[in-house]
Amino acid sequence: MADVGRHPNITLHTMSEVVDIKGFVGNFNVRVLKKSRYVDESECTACGECAKVCPVVYPDEFNVGLSSRRAVYMPFPQAVPSSYAINMNECLGHGCSKCADACDKNCIHFHMSDEDFQVTVGSIIVATGLEPYDPREMDEYGYTRYENVMTSLEFERMVNAGGPTKGELICPKDRQKPRSVGFIQCVGSRSLQKGGEYCSNICCMNTIKSTLVLKEHYPDMEIKVFYIDIRAFGKGFEDLYNRSRQLGVQYVRGLPGSIEELEDGSVRVAVENTSTGRIEYHDLNMMVLALGIKPSSGTQRLQEMMGLQLTSDGFYLEAHPKLQPVDAATRGIFYAGCAEGPKDIKESVTQGSAAAVRAVRLMHRGVITSEPITSEIIAEHCVSCGKCATVCPYNAIVVDTKKKTPAVVNTAACSGCGTCAAECKFGAIVMNHFTDEQINSQTDIMLAENAADKILTFACNWCSYAGADYAGVSRLQYPANVRLIRTMCSGRVDEEFVWHAFEKGAPVVLVSGCHIGDCHYIDANHWTEKRIVKMHKKMEKLGIRAERLQLEWISAAEGIRFAQVMKDMDKLRMGVSPGEIAETIEILKARKKK
Ligand code: FES
Repeated sequence: MADVGRHPNITLHTMSEVVDIKGFVGNFNVRVLKKSRYVDESECTACGECAKVCPVVYPDEFNVGLSSRRAVYMPFPQAVPSSYAINMNECLGHGCSKCADACDKNCIHFHMSDEDFQVTVGSIIVATGLEPYDPREMDEYGYTRYENVMTSLEFERMVNAGGPTKGELICPKDRQKPRSVGFIQCVGSRSLQKGGEYCSNICCMNTIKSTLVLKEHYPDMEIKVFYIDIRAFGKGFEDLYNRSRQLGVQYVRGLPGSIEELEDGSVRVAVENTSTGRIEYHDLNMMVLALGIKPSSGTQRLQEMMGLQLTSDGFYLEAHPKLQPVDAATRGIFYAGCAEGPKDIKESVTQGSAAAVRAVRLMHRGVITSEPITSEIIAEHCVSCGKCATVCPYNAIVVDTKKKTPAVVNTAACSGCGTCAAECKFGAIVMNHFTDEQINSQTDIMLAENAADKILTFACNWCSYAGADYAGVSRLQYPANVRLIRTMCSGRVDEEFVWHAFEKGAPVVLVSGCHIGDCHYIDANHWTEKRIVKMHKKMEKLGIRAERLQLEWISAAEGIRFAQVMKDMDKLRMGVSPGEIAETIEILKARKKK
């Protein structure tokens, strides 16, 4: 942090909040609200005289409330800039002014106000961090009732040499050194009822590290860890786990069902040991809850501001888990650290470095090269209805519906999903490399012979097409009569492609894409879903069995599901008679003439 603060090419805006982001790769306009610290940071020498005289006392957030601070305070010892700040919601203000009187340098200015400013940047790295799970939700562990039950964060501050007890471990109830300490794993993680369903990644190793620290300082201490399973998967982690066990730390496989306080303030833990199948009771002086982690509270607001995607767990979704693990689906935005998912320090550093290099690689040439797969407006066909701008997940299209000027595509912002082209009813948008002609020609050739035997499938590049690939490499059997047409996103599948396929004699048509929430073009597949619902209604009106058009969400990892869907489609195909196909062709020809 100190290095960042000193770097000539880095401007650090502390106590600042991003309030709005507009623009696109190479040209993002970011509006920032910089909160006033009421202390001139360029003059403050962090002597601390102001805090000594401040009469207002509040719990210190850095020490998770285990110590106190004043209304004028330094957030934490190594804070950058090394300057005090006043929390105006706590300060008594002009009525007191003791801090201002004590400051020799006259750094304290009560009249300072928040600053609102804009910066233009080429790329953005989102590193919003994490928040610990709130253990008050799991009251069976007695965090709100028993003083000697503490969180892993509180424990961490206590054993830290710079912490509130100067590194000495004491029971909060009687301030005595504990003879025995227990750790409960997965508090708020891997739970279907409370907290997250996901593994928080860091808690096992954090507990193992804590047991080693304790054994180093207190070799005779009795230490027990209650766990579901220990996930020591990183480099050298298994060695640490083994060392902890060799030092006498007892690992009990099973999560406690309840905790009760004993007369002396210790706790009694009831647990089913799943290794022995017995219910056991363990008395311990202190219990530490290994908290899971969750996305930081500002995640959703920032996600809405930038049009990013979130996973079902609430973390940011990367553009591709293997090929673009630090990129957002929106070009020019990258993720670092726990913004994208739970991570330890090593992984966070790795991802942060990767994100920085991705951003530098994008920006260093001074010009942005865009992918050729972008949409293009045919101005003479455009009626300025604005539909394309509404459906574009990247706000890459601008239309002035009042002045009736043709739509304009910002190719730097366009990611090439093709939803605009599929939704345009006037044929005013060409999706380069996935044009109507190119897609319909593929349909023509695939259905040129024995059309009634074919299963025509439109598959999105990122999920369903990759799912088909996975089924193939896994040597899964599925009908050989499947014919795949790849589009970048299921959002590109124009209604007319489906009519064209039926007109060419397709017995069944499948549109498949990423699961809702997983679309690689933010939420483009929502439009696919809406379109298919509309088409089903139209088919019923026209007298075509709606069942013949299917929509399935298949992810890249669902090779088995892909094979199963294709088998189901084949069954459906066999139920479509030649007469029904011929009738559909006639209906669609008549529709065209109208
Ligand atoms: Fe797969 Fe959009 S990328 S449905």
